Amino acid sequence: MGEDAGLRVLVVGGGGREHALAWALARSPRVAEVLVAPGNAGTAREPGCRNVAIAAEDLDALLELAEAEDVDLTVVGPEAPLALGIVDLFEAAGRRILGPRRRAAEIESSKVFAKTFMQRHGIPTARFEIASSAERARAVLAEWSPPLVIKADGLAAGKGVIVATSREQAEEAIAHLFGGGLGVPVGRVVIEEFLEGEEASYIVLADGERFLPLPTSQDHKRRDEGDEGPNTGGMGACSPAPAIDAELERRIQERIVLPALRGLAAGRRAFRGFLYAGLMITPAGEPIVLEFNARLGDPEAQALLLRLEGDLAEALLAACEGRLAETTLAWSEEASVVAVLAAGGYPGPARRDDPVLGLDPPEEEGLKIFHAGTRLAEDGRVLSRGGRILGVAARGPTVGAARERVYRRLAGIRCEGAFYRRDIGWRAVLRETAVPLAAGEGE
Ligand code: AMP
Ligand code: GLY
Repeated sequence: MGEDAGLRVLVVGGGGREHALAWALARSPRVAEVLVAPGNAGTAREPGCRNVAIAAEDLDALLELAEAEDVDLTVVGPEAPLALGIVDLFEAAGRRILGPRRRAAEIESSKVFAKTFMQRHGIPTARFEIASSAERARAVLAEWSPPLVIKADGLAAGKGVIVATSREQAEEAIAHLFGGGLGVPVGRVVIEEFLEGEEASYIVLADGERFLPLPTSQDHKRRDEGDEGPNTGGMGACSPAPAIDAELERRIQERIVLPALRGLAAGRRAFRGFLYAGLMITPAGEPIVLEFNARLGDPEAQALLLRLEGDLAEALLAACEGRLAETTLAWSEEASVVAVLAAGGYPGPARRDDPVLGLDPPEEEGLKIFHAGTRLAEDGRVLSRGGRILGVAARGPTVGAARERVYRRLAGIRCEGAFYRRDIGWRAVLRETAVPLAAGEGE
């Protein structure tokens, strides 16, 4: 496997993160072809990429594909196959794959494991209680005052976290979660203190022995402008994160990333792959972990990979083989922004099968459309598939400049009922913009 040129790579997943991964891998001089399972219309049309119609959770079919196509490296995008043990399965078959094994992926797939792990290793996280029945949860509520956050234990595609600002909302959340409201049984919930502050994403690539940091980024989780409305998978992101300077980054590495990776290794859960710390930076400037993810963030990956200047295939191979010590990854000094176009109704049941128009003007350097919920119809049209449809990502000397490019391009894309936030990167832009001393008229 894996001679110097002509690598065959398989990317598992079909969202914006996976389009960005496939695009970045296809640009590596070492890569001959990128297979994407199942992919989307964007990966179907990406030079050097080919879609294969296998779902990301169909582990046996994915392994068969990797063997039949003699794939040299498999890269896993989403959390579900990791939690199902895709890495354990591929490794047992002697196939090279980047991602944490099932036990290491529990840092994301079990909130109860993640919280108790953080507590054991002194990693700063919100104060919490675990309740294994609705009755026990109500007893915790009686002693805590809102606002509170209630989280279902297993993977719930972002729908298992409820912020309750009143006791009634907290009661409803508990009835909803334990009453089967997620469509999957919930055995335990975490009840935790609500933290004020500014969120940031800190992602590293780990090989089990050491880690290579990616640039910082900031997601925008709420659906509506001004960070209002329901939580989503993420409506846009910018990189770098405005709240993290070099000194804070050092503290995040020392107090969060290192103890997490060392603690996982000590518990026979050595972590290989992308470890993502979802942080709240408190008003006092302290980083606190809201959650760990066992994968790249989406849409963060779109903004990050647009800044990548190094060879992604080489870095991912090195991470697989425990060779990160001899690897570096170069990143553009420029900032980047991605804004997501979502189908009407998202994050609830959303419109689908609408044509997506305006995708074809000539490519611009430093600007890229990453597809997510799209498919290629037989007649060659791109149709929406519900949820997040695509992300427009651009680089610029500042977040403000990158964001202007993003919105200029988005204005030319049309899809019935679809919407996007017009304020992605607003915190960064606020910090980039000079404030006049003179009061405006009427002051
Ligand atoms: P999680 O899946 O745990 O990251 O939660 C999803 C989102 O809920 C986070 O990105 C935050 O926006 C919000 N959230 C989770 N936990 C807290 C908390 N303790 N305080 C405030 N917001 C939170
Ligand atoms: N954008 C948040 C996530 O990927 O979990």
